[in-house]
Amino acid sequence: MTEPATSDQHERGSFASRRVFILAAIGSAVGLGNIWRFPYVAYENGGGAFVIPYLVALLTAGLPFLLMDYGIGHRYRGSAPLSFRRMHRGGEVLGWWQVGICAVIAVYYAVIIAWAVRYTFFSFDHSWGEDPNGFFFGDFLQVAEQPSVGLDFVPGVLWPLLLVWIAVLVIMVAGVQRGIGAVAVVFIPVLVVAFAALVVRALFLPGAAEGLDALFTPDWGALGDTAVWAAAFGQIFFSLSVGFGIMITYASYVGRRTDMTGSGLVVGFSNSAFELLAGIGVFAALGFLAQANGVAVNEVASDGLGLAFVAFPTIISEAPAGALIGVLFFGCLVLAGLTSLVSVIEVVISAVRDKLALTRVAASLVVGIPTATVSVVFFATTTGVPILDTADHFINRFGILLVAVCSMVAVSWWFRDLHTIRAHLNEFGSFPLGTWWSALVAVLAPIVLTYVLVQELVDALDEPYGGYPDWLLNWFGWGAAIGVVLVAAVISALPWSRRTSLEIPEEVHR
Ligand code: ALA
Repeated sequence: MTEPATSDQHERGSFASRRVFILAAIGSAVGLGNIWRFPYVAYENGGGAFVIPYLVALLTAGLPFLLMDYGIGHRYRGSAPLSFRRMHRGGEVLGWWQVGICAVIAVYYAVIIAWAVRYTFFSFDHSWGEDPNGFFFGDFLQVAEQPSVGLDFVPGVLWPLLLVWIAVLVIMVAGVQRGIGAVAVVFIPVLVVAFAALVVRALFLPGAAEGLDALFTPDWGALGDTAVWAAAFGQIFFSLSVGFGIMITYASYVGRRTDMTGSGLVVGFSNSAFELLAGIGVFAALGFLAQANGVAVNEVASDGLGLAFVAFPTIISEAPAGALIGVLFFGCLVLAGLTSLVSVIEVVISAVRDKLALTRVAASLVVGIPTATVSVVFFATTTGVPILDTADHFINRFGILLVAVCSMVAVSWWFRDLHTIRAHLNEFGSFPLGTWWSALVAVLAPIVLTYVLVQELVDALDEPYGGYPDWLLNWFGWGAAIGVVLVAAVISALPWSRRTSLEIPEEVHR
Protein backbone atom coordinates (compact mmCIF):
# COMPACT_ATOMS: atom_id res chain seq x y z
CA MET A 1 0.00 0.00 0.00
CA THR A 2 1.22 3.48 -0.78
CA GLU A 3 -0.29 6.48 0.94
CA PRO A 4 -0.85 9.70 -1.02
CA ALA A 5 2.25 11.79 -1.56
CA THR A 6 2.89 14.72 0.76
CA SER A 7 3.33 18.28 -0.51
CA ASP A 8 7.11 17.94 -0.30
CA GLN A 9 6.92 14.87 -2.54
CA HIS A 10 4.67 16.76 -4.93
CA GLU A 11 7.36 19.41 -5.31
CA ARG A 12 10.09 16.85 -5.90
CA GLY A 13 7.82 14.50 -7.78
CA SER A 14 6.73 11.01 -6.73
CA PHE A 15 5.64 7.70 -8.19
CA ALA A 16 1.87 7.26 -8.14
CA SER A 17 2.03 3.81 -6.58
CA ARG A 18 4.33 1.02 -5.48
CA ARG A 19 3.63 -0.75 -8.75
CA VAL A 20 4.93 2.18 -10.78
CA PHE A 21 8.01 2.40 -8.56
CA ILE A 22 8.73 -1.32 -9.00
CA LEU A 23 8.32 -1.07 -12.77
CA ALA A 24 10.61 1.97 -12.91
CA ALA A 25 13.21 0.20 -10.76
CA ILE A 26 13.02 -2.92 -12.95
CA GLY A 27 13.30 -0.60 -15.95
CA SER A 28 16.49 0.79 -14.51
CA ALA A 29 17.95 -2.58 -13.60
CA VAL A 30 17.08 -4.38 -16.82
CA GLY A 31 19.24 -2.70 -19.42
CA LEU A 32 22.01 -3.22 -21.90
CA GLY A 33 23.89 -5.02 -19.13
CA ASN A 34 21.33 -7.82 -19.08
CA ILE A 35 21.10 -8.31 -22.81
CA TRP A 36 24.54 -7.67 -24.19
CA ARG A 37 26.75 -8.06 -21.19
CA PHE A 38 25.40 -10.97 -19.13
CA PRO A 39 25.32 -13.81 -21.69
CA TYR A 40 28.92 -13.35 -22.67
CA VAL A 41 30.20 -12.69 -19.14
CA ALA A 42 28.55 -15.92 -18.00
CA TYR A 43 29.93 -17.89 -20.92
CA GLU A 44 33.47 -16.50 -20.54
CA ASN A 45 33.58 -17.07 -16.82
CA GLY A 46 32.82 -20.71 -16.30
CA GLY A 47 29.49 -21.14 -18.15
CA GLY A 48 27.17 -23.16 -15.92
CA ALA A 49 29.64 -22.84 -13.04
CA PHE A 50 29.24 -19.04 -13.18
CA VAL A 51 25.94 -19.47 -11.44
CA ILE A 52 27.83 -19.96 -8.17
CA PRO A 53 29.82 -16.68 -8.08
CA TYR A 54 26.79 -14.95 -9.60
CA LEU A 55 24.45 -16.11 -6.83
CA VAL A 56 27.04 -15.43 -4.14
CA ALA A 57 27.50 -11.90 -5.49
CA LEU A 58 23.74 -11.38 -5.72
CA LEU A 59 22.88 -12.69 -2.28
CA THR A 60 25.85 -11.46 -0.25
CA ALA A 61 26.43 -8.07 -1.82
CA GLY A 62 24.03 -7.05 -4.60
CA LEU A 63 20.68 -7.51 -2.84
CA PRO A 64 21.87 -6.33 0.61
CA PHE A 65 23.36 -3.22 -0.99
CA LEU A 66 20.20 -2.65 -3.04
CA LEU A 67 18.19 -2.69 0.17
CA MET A 68 20.62 -0.25 1.79
CA ASP A 69 20.17 2.09 -1.19
CA TYR A 70 16.39 1.80 -0.83
CA GLY A 71 16.62 2.50 2.89
CA ILE A 72 18.81 5.58 2.38
CA GLY A 73 16.62 7.12 -0.32
CA HIS A 74 13.39 6.25 1.41
CA ARG A 75 14.42 7.54 4.81
CA TYR A 76 16.34 10.67 3.79
CA ARG A 77 14.09 11.53 0.85
CA GLY A 78 16.57 13.21 -1.41
CA SER A 79 18.92 12.75 -4.32
CA ALA A 80 22.06 10.76 -3.53
CA PRO A 81 24.10 13.79 -2.32
CA LEU A 82 21.22 15.23 -0.29
CA SER A 83 20.34 11.87 1.27
CA PHE A 84 23.94 11.26 2.32
CA ARG A 85 24.23 14.87 3.55
CA ARG A 86 21.13 14.46 5.68
CA MET A 87 22.57 11.26 7.05
CA HIS A 88 25.92 12.81 7.96
CA ARG A 89 27.77 16.05 7.31
CA GLY A 90 30.66 14.15 5.71
CA GLY A 91 28.45 12.01 3.49
CA GLU A 92 27.75 14.38 0.62
CA VAL A 93 30.87 13.51 -1.33
CA LEU A 94 29.72 9.89 -1.66
CA GLY A 95 26.54 11.12 -3.32
CA TRP A 96 28.34 13.36 -5.79
CA TRP A 97 30.76 10.55 -6.56
CA GLN A 98 27.77 8.43 -7.60
CA VAL A 99 26.38 11.35 -9.59
CA GLY A 100 29.72 11.64 -11.43
CA ILE A 101 29.68 7.93 -12.25
CA CYS A 102 26.18 8.32 -13.69
CA ALA A 103 27.27 11.28 -15.81
CA VAL A 104 30.10 9.21 -17.32
CA ILE A 105 27.87 6.19 -17.93
CA ALA A 106 25.09 8.29 -19.48
CA VAL A 107 27.32 9.76 -22.17
CA TYR A 108 28.37 6.40 -23.60
CA TYR A 109 25.23 4.38 -22.76
CA ALA A 110 23.18 6.67 -25.01
CA VAL A 111 25.25 5.93 -28.09
CA ILE A 112 24.75 2.17 -27.79
CA ILE A 113 21.00 2.79 -27.76
CA ALA A 114 21.43 5.02 -30.83
CA TRP A 115 23.21 2.18 -32.67
CA ALA A 116 20.41 -0.19 -31.69
CA VAL A 117 17.85 2.26 -33.09
CA ARG A 118 19.61 2.18 -36.46
CA TYR A 119 20.01 -1.59 -36.37
CA THR A 120 16.30 -2.09 -35.71
CA PHE A 121 15.72 -0.59 -39.15
CA PHE A 122 18.76 -2.24 -40.75
CA SER A 123 17.20 -5.60 -39.79
CA PHE A 124 14.45 -5.23 -42.39
CA ASP A 125 16.75 -5.31 -45.43
CA HIS A 126 19.92 -6.76 -43.83
CA SER A 127 21.79 -3.55 -44.64
CA TRP A 128 25.05 -5.13 -43.43
CA GLY A 129 25.12 -7.42 -46.48
CA GLU A 130 27.61 -10.27 -46.44
CA ASP A 131 30.03 -8.74 -43.96
CA PRO A 132 28.38 -7.57 -40.69
CA ASN A 133 31.75 -7.01 -39.02
CA GLY A 134 33.13 -4.81 -41.80
CA PHE A 135 29.80 -3.02 -42.03
CA PHE A 136 29.58 -2.24 -38.29
CA PHE A 137 33.10 -1.00 -37.71
CA GLY A 138 33.70 0.33 -41.23
CA ASP A 139 30.61 1.55 -43.06
CA PHE A 140 28.46 2.31 -40.05
CA LEU A 141 30.81 3.57 -37.29
CA GLN A 142 33.70 4.49 -39.60
CA VAL A 143 36.08 3.72 -36.73
CA ALA A 144 39.44 5.51 -37.07
CA GLU A 145 42.37 3.18 -37.66
CA GLN A 146 44.29 4.30 -34.58
CA PRO A 147 42.76 5.23 -31.21
CA SER A 148 42.63 9.03 -31.16
CA VAL A 149 40.35 11.91 -30.24
CA GLY A 150 38.87 13.92 -33.05
CA LEU A 151 35.82 15.74 -34.29
CA ASP A 152 35.09 13.75 -37.44
CA PHE A 153 31.36 13.30 -37.00
CA VAL A 154 29.58 10.26 -38.40
CA PRO A 155 26.13 11.48 -39.56
CA GLY A 156 24.61 7.98 -39.38
CA VAL A 157 25.38 7.88 -35.65
CA LEU A 158 24.86 11.57 -34.95
CA TRP A 159 21.18 11.81 -35.79
CA PRO A 160 19.96 8.73 -33.90
CA LEU A 161 22.05 9.87 -30.94
CA LEU A 162 20.38 13.28 -31.05
CA LEU A 163 17.01 11.53 -31.23
CA VAL A 164 17.84 9.47 -28.15
CA TRP A 165 18.82 12.57 -26.20
CA ILE A 166 15.72 14.48 -27.29
CA ALA A 167 13.54 11.56 -26.18
CA VAL A 168 15.37 11.39 -22.84
CA LEU A 169 15.03 15.14 -22.27
CA VAL A 170 11.30 15.05 -23.00
CA ILE A 171 10.88 12.22 -20.48
CA MET A 172 12.95 14.01 -17.86
CA VAL A 173 11.09 17.29 -18.28
CA ALA A 174 7.77 15.44 -17.96
CA GLY A 175 8.74 14.44 -14.43
CA VAL A 176 8.92 11.46 -12.11
CA GLN A 177 5.44 10.05 -12.61
CA ARG A 178 4.42 11.49 -15.98
CA GLY A 179 7.86 10.90 -17.49
CA ILE A 180 9.89 8.11 -15.84
CA GLY A 181 6.90 6.27 -14.35
CA ALA A 182 4.72 6.47 -17.46
CA VAL A 183 7.53 5.24 -19.71
CA ALA A 184 8.23 2.29 -17.41
CA VAL A 185 4.56 1.32 -17.21
CA VAL A 186 4.37 1.12 -21.00
CA PHE A 187 7.85 -0.06 -21.95
CA ILE A 188 8.47 -2.81 -19.38
CA PRO A 189 5.46 -5.01 -20.24
CA VAL A 190 6.20 -4.54 -23.96
CA LEU A 191 9.83 -5.43 -23.34
CA VAL A 192 8.95 -8.59 -21.42
CA VAL A 193 6.53 -9.81 -24.09
CA ALA A 194 8.88 -8.96 -26.99
CA PHE A 195 11.87 -10.54 -25.30
CA ALA A 196 9.94 -13.68 -24.40
CA ALA A 197 8.86 -13.95 -28.06
CA LEU A 198 12.50 -13.57 -29.14
CA VAL A 199 13.66 -16.30 -26.76
CA VAL A 200 10.94 -18.70 -27.89
CA ARG A 201 11.85 -18.01 -31.53
CA ALA A 202 15.53 -18.61 -30.78
CA LEU A 203 14.80 -21.87 -28.96
CA PHE A 204 13.15 -23.26 -32.09
CA LEU A 205 16.13 -22.54 -34.32
CA PRO A 206 18.18 -25.57 -35.40
CA GLY A 207 21.32 -25.82 -33.26
CA ALA A 208 19.76 -24.04 -30.26
CA ALA A 209 20.50 -27.00 -27.98
CA GLU A 210 24.24 -26.84 -28.76
CA GLY A 211 24.23 -23.16 -27.85
CA LEU A 212 22.58 -23.86 -24.51
CA ASP A 213 25.01 -26.70 -23.93
CA ALA A 214 27.91 -24.31 -24.45
CA LEU A 215 26.43 -21.78 -22.04
CA PHE A 216 25.49 -24.19 -19.30
CA THR A 217 28.35 -26.71 -19.39
CA PRO A 218 30.13 -25.91 -16.15
CA ASP A 219 33.84 -25.26 -16.03
CA TRP A 220 34.35 -25.80 -12.31
CA GLY A 221 38.02 -24.86 -12.60
CA ALA A 222 36.92 -21.27 -13.25
CA LEU A 223 35.80 -20.96 -9.63
CA GLY A 224 39.43 -20.80 -8.51
CA ASP A 225 40.06 -17.75 -10.66
CA THR A 226 39.57 -14.40 -8.91
CA ALA A 227 38.83 -12.72 -12.26
CA VAL A 228 35.68 -14.85 -12.47
CA TRP A 229 34.53 -13.61 -9.07
CA ALA A 230 35.35 -10.04 -10.06
CA ALA A 231 33.28 -10.48 -13.20
CA ALA A 232 30.33 -11.77 -11.13
CA PHE A 233 30.41 -8.84 -8.69
CA GLY A 234 30.88 -6.33 -11.53
CA GLN A 235 27.97 -7.83 -13.43
CA ILE A 236 25.65 -7.85 -10.42
CA PHE A 237 26.34 -4.24 -9.44
CA PHE A 238 26.03 -2.86 -12.98
CA SER A 239 22.99 -4.93 -13.68
CA LEU A 240 21.12 -4.17 -10.45
CA SER A 241 21.89 -0.45 -10.87
CA VAL A 242 23.44 -0.29 -7.41
CA GLY A 243 26.39 1.94 -6.63
CA PHE A 244 25.07 4.54 -9.08
CA GLY A 245 22.74 6.36 -6.66
CA ILE A 246 19.81 5.34 -8.86
CA MET A 247 18.00 3.28 -6.27
CA ILE A 248 18.55 5.99 -3.64
CA THR A 249 16.96 8.54 -5.96
CA TYR A 250 14.02 6.35 -7.01
CA ALA A 251 13.32 5.27 -3.42
CA SER A 252 13.05 8.94 -2.43
CA TYR A 253 10.00 9.21 -4.70
CA VAL A 254 8.03 6.50 -2.91
CA GLY A 255 5.39 7.01 -0.20
CA ARG A 256 6.51 6.45 3.37
CA ARG A 257 4.43 3.39 4.18
CA THR A 258 5.70 1.41 1.22
CA ASP A 259 7.14 -2.07 1.70
CA MET A 260 10.68 -1.45 0.49
CA THR A 261 12.24 -4.79 1.37
CA GLY A 262 9.60 -6.77 -0.52
CA SER A 263 9.97 -4.36 -3.44
CA GLY A 264 13.74 -4.85 -3.41
CA LEU A 265 13.39 -8.61 -3.67
CA VAL A 266 10.90 -8.29 -6.54
CA VAL A 267 13.26 -5.98 -8.42
CA GLY A 268 16.38 -8.02 -7.73
CA PHE A 269 14.92 -11.36 -8.73
CA SER A 270 13.12 -9.94 -11.77
CA ASN A 271 16.43 -8.56 -12.95
CA SER A 272 18.18 -11.90 -12.55
CA ALA A 273 15.29 -13.73 -14.23
CA PHE A 274 15.57 -11.42 -17.20
CA GLU A 275 19.30 -11.96 -17.28
CA LEU A 276 18.87 -15.72 -17.35
CA LEU A 277 16.29 -15.40 -20.10
CA ALA A 278 18.74 -13.26 -22.09
CA GLY A 279 21.46 -15.88 -21.65
CA ILE A 280 19.14 -18.61 -22.94
CA GLY A 281 17.90 -16.57 -25.90
CA VAL A 282 21.31 -15.30 -26.96
CA PHE A 283 23.03 -18.68 -26.72
CA ALA A 284 20.22 -20.52 -28.48
CA ALA A 285 20.70 -18.06 -31.35
CA LEU A 286 24.49 -18.49 -31.25
CA GLY A 287 24.02 -22.25 -31.37
CA PHE A 288 22.10 -21.79 -34.58
CA LEU A 289 24.84 -19.57 -35.99
CA ALA A 290 27.54 -22.09 -35.10
CA GLN A 291 25.63 -24.98 -36.65
CA ALA A 292 24.81 -23.03 -39.81
CA ASN A 293 28.49 -22.29 -40.31
CA GLY A 294 29.78 -25.69 -39.20
CA VAL A 295 31.90 -24.24 -36.40
CA ALA A 296 31.96 -24.54 -32.59
CA VAL A 297 29.89 -22.16 -30.48
CA ASN A 298 33.04 -20.62 -28.98
CA GLU A 299 33.99 -19.36 -32.43
CA VAL A 300 30.82 -17.32 -32.76
CA ALA A 301 30.44 -16.12 -29.16
CA SER A 302 31.89 -12.65 -28.77
CA ASP A 303 31.60 -9.86 -26.26
CA GLY A 304 29.18 -6.93 -26.00
CA LEU A 305 29.58 -4.99 -29.23
CA GLY A 306 30.56 -7.99 -31.32
CA LEU A 307 27.67 -10.01 -29.96
CA ALA A 308 24.95 -7.45 -30.56
CA PHE A 309 26.19 -5.78 -33.70
CA VAL A 310 28.10 -8.52 -35.52
CA ALA A 311 26.89 -11.96 -34.39
CA PHE A 312 23.22 -11.00 -34.27
CA PRO A 313 23.16 -9.41 -37.72
CA THR A 314 24.70 -12.64 -39.05
CA ILE A 315 21.98 -14.66 -37.33
CA ILE A 316 19.32 -12.31 -38.71
CA SER A 317 20.66 -12.82 -42.24
CA GLU A 318 20.78 -16.60 -41.96
CA ALA A 319 17.72 -17.51 -39.85
CA PRO A 320 14.24 -18.00 -41.23
CA ALA A 321 12.15 -14.87 -40.48
CA GLY A 322 15.40 -13.15 -39.53
CA ALA A 323 13.93 -9.65 -39.82
CA LEU A 324 11.52 -10.48 -37.01
CA ILE A 325 14.40 -11.65 -34.80
CA GLY A 326 16.24 -8.43 -35.63
CA VAL A 327 13.37 -6.12 -34.82
CA LEU A 328 12.69 -7.96 -31.56
CA PHE A 329 16.35 -8.05 -30.50
CA PHE A 330 17.31 -4.48 -31.33
CA GLY A 331 13.90 -3.14 -30.32
CA CYS A 332 14.39 -4.80 -26.90
CA LEU A 333 17.85 -3.23 -26.61
CA VAL A 334 16.30 0.19 -27.28
CA LEU A 335 13.46 -0.28 -24.76
CA ALA A 336 15.67 -1.77 -22.04
CA GLY A 337 18.39 0.80 -22.69
CA LEU A 338 16.09 3.83 -22.60
CA THR A 339 14.46 2.93 -19.28
CA SER A 340 17.94 2.49 -17.79
CA LEU A 341 19.34 5.67 -19.33
CA VAL A 342 16.54 7.80 -17.87
CA SER A 343 17.33 6.39 -14.42
CA VAL A 344 21.02 7.14 -14.82
CA ILE A 345 20.41 10.73 -15.88
CA GLU A 346 17.75 11.22 -13.20
CA VAL A 347 20.47 10.77 -10.57
CA VAL A 348 22.30 13.79 -11.96
CA ILE A 349 19.17 15.88 -12.48
CA SER A 350 17.78 15.27 -9.00
CA ALA A 351 21.15 16.07 -7.42
CA VAL A 352 21.55 19.36 -9.28
CA ARG A 353 17.96 20.18 -8.55
CA ASP A 354 18.40 19.66 -4.82
CA LYS A 355 21.70 21.53 -4.62
CA LEU A 356 20.53 24.61 -6.51
CA ALA A 357 16.78 24.38 -5.73
CA LEU A 358 15.91 24.46 -9.44
CA THR A 359 12.62 23.52 -11.04
CA ARG A 360 12.48 20.15 -12.78
CA VAL A 361 12.47 21.74 -16.21
CA ALA A 362 15.46 23.95 -15.43
CA ALA A 363 17.43 21.10 -13.87
CA SER A 364 16.63 18.76 -16.78
CA LEU A 365 17.97 21.31 -19.25
CA VAL A 366 20.97 22.35 -17.15
CA VAL A 367 22.01 18.70 -16.91
CA GLY A 368 20.65 17.30 -20.16
CA ILE A 369 22.07 19.76 -22.66
CA PRO A 370 25.74 19.60 -21.56
CA THR A 371 25.55 15.82 -21.09
CA ALA A 372 24.06 15.34 -24.54
CA THR A 373 26.74 17.63 -26.00
CA VAL A 374 29.60 15.66 -24.43
CA SER A 375 27.95 12.43 -25.57
CA VAL A 376 27.72 13.67 -29.15
CA VAL A 377 31.23 15.15 -29.24
CA PHE A 378 32.90 11.97 -27.98
CA PHE A 379 30.69 9.25 -29.38
CA ALA A 380 29.17 10.40 -32.64
CA THR A 381 32.67 10.63 -34.08
CA THR A 382 35.03 8.17 -35.71
CA THR A 383 37.07 7.95 -32.49
CA GLY A 384 34.35 6.94 -30.02
CA VAL A 385 34.66 3.15 -29.76
CA PRO A 386 37.98 2.75 -27.88
CA ILE A 387 36.97 5.60 -25.56
CA LEU A 388 33.64 3.90 -24.85
CA ASP A 389 35.27 0.56 -24.18
CA THR A 390 37.86 2.08 -21.83
CA ALA A 391 35.46 4.31 -19.90
CA ASP A 392 33.01 1.41 -19.47
CA HIS A 393 35.70 -0.95 -18.18
CA PHE A 394 37.23 1.48 -15.67
CA ILE A 395 34.10 3.17 -14.38
CA ASN A 396 32.52 -0.20 -13.65
CA ARG A 397 35.38 -1.32 -11.52
CA PHE A 398 37.07 1.73 -10.05
CA GLY A 399 33.84 3.72 -10.01
CA ILE A 400 30.83 1.60 -9.16
CA LEU A 401 32.51 -1.16 -7.14
CA LEU A 402 34.78 1.28 -5.30
CA VAL A 403 32.04 3.71 -4.35
CA ALA A 404 29.93 0.73 -3.25
CA VAL A 405 32.64 -0.41 -0.81
CA CYS A 406 33.20 3.14 0.44
CA SER A 407 29.45 3.71 0.96
CA MET A 408 28.97 0.46 2.86
CA VAL A 409 31.98 1.13 5.10
CA ALA A 410 31.10 4.81 5.66
CA VAL A 411 27.42 4.17 6.44
CA SER A 412 28.23 1.29 8.77
CA TRP A 413 31.39 2.43 10.54
CA TRP A 414 31.72 6.18 10.13
CA PHE A 415 28.17 7.52 10.04
CA ARG A 416 26.99 4.57 12.16
CA ASP A 417 23.63 4.70 10.46
CA LEU A 418 23.11 1.12 9.37
CA HIS A 419 21.01 0.28 12.38
CA THR A 420 18.70 3.25 11.72
CA ILE A 421 18.30 2.27 8.08
CA ARG A 422 17.51 -1.29 9.05
CA ALA A 423 14.89 -0.18 11.55
CA HIS A 424 13.44 2.12 8.91
CA LEU A 425 13.22 -0.65 6.33
CA ASN A 426 11.73 -3.04 8.85
CA GLU A 427 8.98 -0.60 9.89
CA PHE A 428 6.87 -1.30 6.79
CA GLY A 429 8.91 -4.03 5.12
CA SER A 430 7.36 -7.43 4.51
CA PHE A 431 10.72 -9.17 4.60
CA PRO A 432 12.41 -8.59 7.95
CA LEU A 433 16.10 -7.73 7.92
CA GLY A 434 18.01 -9.19 10.83
CA THR A 435 21.54 -8.68 12.10
CA TRP A 436 22.63 -10.99 9.28
CA TRP A 437 21.84 -8.14 6.86
CA SER A 438 23.97 -5.67 8.82
CA ALA A 439 26.78 -8.23 8.90
CA LEU A 440 26.63 -8.63 5.13
CA VAL A 441 26.61 -4.87 4.45
CA ALA A 442 29.10 -3.86 7.12
CA VAL A 443 31.58 -6.71 6.96
CA LEU A 444 31.28 -9.47 4.41
CA ALA A 445 30.44 -7.52 1.25
CA PRO A 446 33.12 -4.84 1.82
CA ILE A 447 35.78 -7.50 2.46
CA VAL A 448 34.90 -9.51 -0.63
CA LEU A 449 34.59 -6.42 -2.83
CA THR A 450 37.90 -5.01 -1.57
CA TYR A 451 39.59 -8.27 -2.43
CA VAL A 452 38.04 -8.25 -5.89
CA LEU A 453 39.07 -4.63 -6.43
CA VAL A 454 42.67 -5.21 -5.37
CA GLN A 455 42.90 -8.06 -7.88
CA GLU A 456 41.43 -5.84 -10.55
CA LEU A 457 43.91 -3.09 -9.71
CA VAL A 458 46.84 -5.49 -9.95
CA ASP A 459 45.56 -6.71 -13.34
CA ALA A 460 45.01 -3.19 -14.63
CA LEU A 461 48.52 -2.15 -13.61
CA ASP A 462 50.06 -5.34 -14.97
CA GLU A 463 48.68 -5.20 -18.44
CA PRO A 464 47.23 -2.18 -20.29
CA TYR A 465 43.51 -2.80 -20.73
CA GLY A 466 42.51 -3.82 -24.25
CA GLY A 467 46.07 -3.19 -25.48
CA TYR A 468 45.17 0.51 -25.74
CA PRO A 469 47.87 3.22 -25.59
CA ASP A 470 48.71 4.72 -22.19
CA TRP A 471 47.33 8.18 -22.99
CA LEU A 472 43.89 6.70 -23.76
CA LEU A 473 43.81 4.64 -20.55
CA ASN A 474 45.12 7.57 -18.49
CA TRP A 475 42.54 10.05 -19.75
CA PHE A 476 39.43 7.97 -20.27
CA GLY A 477 40.08 5.10 -17.86
CA TRP A 478 42.00 6.25 -14.77
CA GLY A 479 41.20 9.88 -15.57
CA ALA A 480 37.45 9.29 -15.62
CA ALA A 481 37.50 7.14 -12.45
CA ILE A 482 39.68 9.56 -10.46
CA GLY A 483 38.21 12.69 -12.05
CA VAL A 484 34.71 11.96 -10.74
CA VAL A 485 36.04 11.75 -7.16
CA LEU A 486 37.86 15.08 -7.47
CA VAL A 487 34.86 16.82 -8.99
CA ALA A 488 32.68 15.30 -6.26
CA ALA A 489 34.97 16.71 -3.58
CA VAL A 490 34.83 20.18 -5.12
CA ILE A 491 31.04 20.21 -5.49
CA SER A 492 30.61 18.95 -1.94
CA ALA A 493 32.53 21.98 -0.71
CA LEU A 494 30.06 24.35 -2.40
CA PRO A 495 27.05 25.55 -0.40
CA TRP A 496 23.48 24.26 -0.85
CA SER A 497 20.72 26.58 -1.94
CA ARG A 498 19.13 28.15 1.10
CA ARG A 499 15.81 26.79 -0.11
CA THR A 500 17.00 23.20 0.30
CA SER A 501 16.52 21.88 3.80
CA LEU A 502 19.33 19.69 5.07
CA GLU A 503 17.13 18.37 7.87
CA ILE A 504 15.48 14.95 7.67
CA PRO A 505 11.90 15.64 6.45
CA GLU A 506 9.26 15.76 9.15
CA GLU A 507 7.18 12.99 7.56
CA VAL A 508 9.87 10.46 8.42
CA HIS A 509 9.34 11.07 12.13
CA ARG A 510 5.57 10.82 11.94
N1 ALA B 1 21.35 -1.69 -14.83
C1 ALA B 1 21.53 -1.16 -16.11
C2 ALA B 1 21.98 -2.21 -17.09
O1 ALA B 1 21.97 -3.37 -16.79
C3 ALA B 1 22.45 0.02 -16.08
O2 ALA B 1 22.32 -1.91 -18.17
